[in-house]
Amino acid sequence: MVATARFSRRCREVDLPVGFGSVRQRLEVGCRKRGCRNGAAGNGVAGKWGCRNGGGMATGERPADKRPGNDSIPLDRPTSARAYSWMLGGKDNFAVDREFMLRTLQGFPECVDIARQNRLFLYRAVRHLVRDAGIRQFIDLGFGLPAEDNVHQVAQRFDPEARVVYVDIDPIVLVHGRALLADNDATAVITADMREPESVVDHPDTRALIDFAEPVALLFLSTGHYLKDSDQVGRGVRHTVRHVIDEVAAPGSYLAFSQIVHDDPARGAEMSELAEGSGIPWQTRTPAEVDALLDGLEPVEPGMVNLRDWRPDPDQPPLEAVPAPLAAFVGATDEELGHYEYGGILRKP
Ligand SMILES: C[S@@+](CC[C@H](N)C(=O)[O-])C[C@H]1O[C@@H](n2cnc3c(N)ncnc32)[C@H](O)[C@@H]1O
Repeated sequence: MVATARFSRRCREVDLPVGFGSVRQRLEVGCRKRGCRNGAAGNGVAGKWGCRNGGGMATGERPADKRPGNDSIPLDRPTSARAYSWMLGGKDNFAVDREFMLRTLQGFPECVDIARQNRLFLYRAVRHLVRDAGIRQFIDLGFGLPAEDNVHQVAQRFDPEARVVYVDIDPIVLVHGRALLADNDATAVITADMREPESVVDHPDTRALIDFAEPVALLFLSTGHYLKDSDQVGRGVRHTVRHVIDEVAAPGSYLAFSQIVHDDPARGAEMSELAEGSGIPWQTRTPAEVDALLDGLEPVEPGMVNLRDWRPDPDQPPLEAVPAPLAAFVGATDEELGHYEYGGILRKP
């Protein structure tokens, strides 16, 4: 399958075979050959020569990526999207992401299981929302690097008319998302910070795809831990999570939420410190703290739980294989360590 992405006036139109390795290769070739220095509106990713049109998804480090003020793909620190994607079997990550994950796993070996349990929940949650709750429109906040069974693929399997707006702040996610979705009119990928929910609601692509007079599902999956109580951006965590569902969405809308929690706040603080020390904004909460964020909404059975226990389905489609360096960590959550992804689906009455 081939999708076409138009990058800018000075970059040629590039044919992108839909497949992530191919996307990367073609984008790199496209910009390197032309020595492009174009900073005009593209997909927001800085490349080898300072081009903002996609060439930066390289496998190695490049001088342009480190220039001060260059909002390129960071190669000197891990990103949450790339580290998480590696645990799902993704290929678009760098040594800095893998090193961060391996360091984290020394203290918290359960992270591989937690990530994979979250992604399996995503499938069950979207299936439930479309098949059982009749939802036809989704806003996926912090959608991450595409993996198996992305939201629109699950939703459209159960209703081909389902529409999805994908939102993320990470440039590498946006490049891959746009390439994947270029041929799907019922989806859009937008650059926005979920901490400013008004910018998501008011975005023209959101307005074109989402009818807020009808029920909508808002997905905050494995994103709550990036929302810190101390954050200076936006109007606070509660506003981030609740503004759209409370103020904008129609009754009968849903919020699916998950975040990493620890039953022991001291251990949770250690995890937060570890991630923050590597430049990833992070706040592990307790389940009670998450519950407090979601009060007043009606939990769908079985309520807010360890995601492993949210309507488990041994027959659901499997994820990609675990990368070999992570294989030893699989099964760590068989021991109850009090550290898990906590979440569920809630309905606006
Ligand atoms: C762990 S991934 C989760 C991916 C997907 N939701 C899932 O459950 O499989 C978290 C994503 O949230 C994005 N993210 C973090 N903070 C964000 C923010 N303030 N606004 C938008 N996206 C954000 C990251 O870039 C990353 O892609």
